[in-house]
Amino acid sequence: MLKRVAWRGDSLRGLAFAGGGHAEREAGERLLQWLLGGEPWPGAKLAAFAPRQGPERKQDRLVCQCKQVGEAAIRAELERGLSLTALKAELGCGTVCGSCGPELARLAADCGQLA
Ligand code: FES
Repeated sequence: MLKRVAWRGDSLRGLAFAGGGHAEREAGERLLQWLLGGEPWPGAKLAAFAPRQGPERKQDRLVCQCKQVGEAAIRAELERGLSLTALKAELGCGTVCGSCGPELARLAADCGQLA
């Protein structure tokens, strides 16, 4: 059963669960995947508490394994104007092993930022 949802603007930033059956766990997993994707929530925030509802998130490519950050969240922050340095500070991607660094640089360039 979903107990708490933390929001930042229209995006999920945290979840807390306790108990619940299979359907609730599936809904919780769907919310967790949505949170990790970093995309804005597409509708009423109260829908997050509906155990069998909520949007199906399209598959997001995981870019940073260490910090579990997907391409959608990275692109959203870059398109918001964050520099690569600020992106790393904000999402934590690229700050552990660094193997995602080249892909982060490619995404930054793809979003119009100079290296
Ligand atoms: S994969 Fe991104 S820091 Fe390790």
